[in-house]
Amino acid sequence: SHTVEVTGPDPRSVACAPGQRLLDAFLRSGVYLPNSCNQGTCGTCKVKVLSGNVEQPAVSETVLGADEQADGFVLACQSSPTSDARIEVPRGAGSGPGHPLRDLSGVVHEVREIADDTLELTVGIDEPLDFSAGQYIEVTVPGIGHIRQYSMANPPSSADRLEFHVRRVPDGVATDRWIFDSLDQGHRIEMRGPWGDFVHDTEADAPMILLAGGTGLAPLKSIARHALELDPEREIHLYHGVRHRSDLYDVEFWETLTERHPGLRYTPCLSRDDGFGRHGYVGDVVLADFDSLRGYSAYLCGPPAMVDAGVKACKRRRMPGRNIHREKYTPAP
Ligand code: FES
Repeated sequence: SHTVEVTGPDPRSVACAPGQRLLDAFLRSGVYLPNSCNQGTCGTCKVKVLSGNVEQPAVSETVLGADEQADGFVLACQSSPTSDARIEVPRGAGSGPGHPLRDLSGVVHEVREIADDTLELTVGIDEPLDFSAGQYIEVTVPGIGHIRQYSMANPPSSADRLEFHVRRVPDGVATDRWIFDSLDQGHRIEMRGPWGDFVHDTEADAPMILLAGGTGLAPLKSIARHALELDPEREIHLYHGVRHRSDLYDVEFWETLTERHPGLRYTPCLSRDDGFGRHGYVGDVVLADFDSLRGYSAYLCGPPAMVDAGVKACKRRRMPGRNIHREKYTPAP
């Protein structure tokens, strides 16, 4: 393997096997790097190569500008060293969630249909996973080796039983042809994680607005449960947006939880149906409910258009940008 020297305030050296991606090697060695998509599309993981050869497949200039590429920047989630190398990591590296990445093997405990084209999958894992509320794992689709990403919906306190929400993608190799088709209790699945820095900031005690679109609810369910474990009185406003009543799930879960936690408010929002919860998009419902969000923080997860509209709504109500945490989610086939 190649030795990668990490420069910066906390110099370290990391072993990187041939073909192994830098981000994977860093996170496995406990050297935290900011990261989000692990697919070369967000630009969060960029680092600067100071010396040595690092190979990277062509990346779009919208993710890594031509000038940055000329200056030696690469995406750590896409590139692998082909010699020993020295890498400069950005400020803030090392201060993230910091749970070492590892391979996980688990056994399906339950596959349960919870709404139209939506499953809840619970997987028992051999060794409890250290993660922060909001993070995700990658699962390998058997036979074809494709990777899919799912956020944990369970809080970190139940680290040996992971819960995922899976939405069917028509004709999708992971969902339609595997998880919805044949995955069953007792099957073994291979994963690696945890990934991502869309995480619950446990230092902040501001009241929280959680905006979910579809199965974007999963990481927010983890965050809400974690926050309520830390402070059962915490003020949390959860908005869950779906199209139709038949797409909505976990209603009973949230209604039961609101009975136990006076600070929790649960608002389902249907964009195409009337007669249950609120009618409209989550961002618009938030605008109608609040005159000011100045002292609040927000966590948003869902399809890109929903997240963008939700962020706009928070900003229009004067929420400071630094209090807004977001993760965009695009179902992969
Ligand atoms: Fe998103 Fe690497 S480009 S984590």
